[in-house]
Amino acid sequence: MAFKKFIIRSYEGHSDRAKVEDLERRCKVGPSESVLYTMGDPICRIRNSPMYIMLVAEMENELVGVIQGLIKMVTVHSHPNNMAKVGYVLGLRVSPHSRRKGIGSSLVRRLEEWFTSNGVEYAYMATEKENHASTNLFMEKFCYTKFRTPTILINPVNHHQFQISPDIEIAMVKVEEAESLYRRFMGSTEFFPSDIENILRNKLNLGTWVASFRGDGDFGLDGKVPNNWAMVSVWNCGEIFKLKLGKAPLSCMLFTKSWSLIGRMLPCMKLRTLPNFFSPFGFFFMYGVYQEGPFSGKLVRALCEFVHNMACGSAQCKIVVTEIGGRDDLIHHIPHWKLLSCQDLWCIKALNSEGSNKFGELSNTQPPRTLFVDPREV
Ligand SMILES: CC(C)(COP(=O)(O)OP(=O)(O)OC[C@H]1O[C@@H](n2cnc3c(N)ncnc32)[C@H](O)[C@@H]1OP(=O)(O)O)[C@@H](O)C(=O)NCCC(=O)NCCS
Repeated sequence: MAFKKFIIRSYEGHSDRAKVEDLERRCKVGPSESVLYTMGDPICRIRNSPMYIMLVAEMENELVGVIQGLIKMVTVHSHPNNMAKVGYVLGLRVSPHSRRKGIGSSLVRRLEEWFTSNGVEYAYMATEKENHASTNLFMEKFCYTKFRTPTILINPVNHHQFQISPDIEIAMVKVEEAESLYRRFMGSTEFFPSDIENILRNKLNLGTWVASFRGDGDFGLDGKVPNNWAMVSVWNCGEIFKLKLGKAPLSCMLFTKSWSLIGRMLPCMKLRTLPNFFSPFGFFFMYGVYQEGPFSGKLVRALCEFVHNMACGSAQCKIVVTEIGGRDDLIHHIPHWKLLSCQDLWCIKALNSEGSNKFGELSNTQPPRTLFVDPREV
């Protein structure tokens, strides 16, 4: 069967904005059938990165596909100087009635060409494991390989404030201090971005907080840190886009039903309820979570409770989300609902010879425990 011709070109804000937003709304992503609402700025997810592009596919004056990409330098252990130029692929959408005509593949191919012309060594993407259209396209057609399986932890926000132990001190740190702490303690974490200062200075960044036990040492000007301490930064995703789920997992629906029944029968228990995910909602993303010291798990939990209390003050924020390395011990200290949390699948591909030489080491080695998940890629 002959397919109609389509062209791939760069996104043009003034003429494409409404069409891209309309396409985004018509494309349900993955088994949860989630839909993203970008609130008038379709490139809001990439515009905070050092280099970015959005490409669109057009067929007979109709916008039928879109893809976004960004380029940055990150820490990669197998690399000679521990840094590599990587390209992240995101936001691939093809209009439901134009699928299986090669449009998705053409968009990926053109984005990879842009990466290559800009010296990118590795391209990578993240998807839900059960999104077969996406995994087939990237892994079978474009030879991406499974790289990491970070865990997405989700905690619903309800309007009950946590009491933080008076033994714990939580303080906001200035951007310069946050940058210095991140470079010193997380600079060698896999995928740590070399332009961390841009993230910390961004208007979506609500701040960085450190926690320590009173009397357990201070953060000194000489770089001294307490015996036990923890750190977190918060990014307000809801400011630029909202999410809506089309389908919740069956287990989640059953749980919600029985939970609200118990709540009605026993109101004295003040049960935490699940937010309504079927109308657009915003969320806070906790990133750069770090802990040091044998008792620092308690401090991580206190920071998470602090962030939850902060989220209670935002009408649109229904969940607090974190993403951590698949083997990260932080999972024991970050409050989350197992029912809502899931595994992400990151796939990677070497784009040039330098990347190829080191590729085996990168993709075959045991993944490090920790992973830096850039809030700009959520
Ligand atoms: C994923 C998506 C972009 C694919 O676009 P497309 O234009 O249909 O892709 P192509 O026609 O280029 O297909 C390329 C290959 O991908 C795989 N593929 C595409 N759709 C598939 C599906 N529904 N089931 C299984 N494999 C599929 C096939 O291997 C296909 O090759 P083939 O047609 O030779 O068998 C499209 O289905 C979509 O927009 N889905 C919703 C949004 C989404 O999930 N985006 C990915 C987020 S990471």
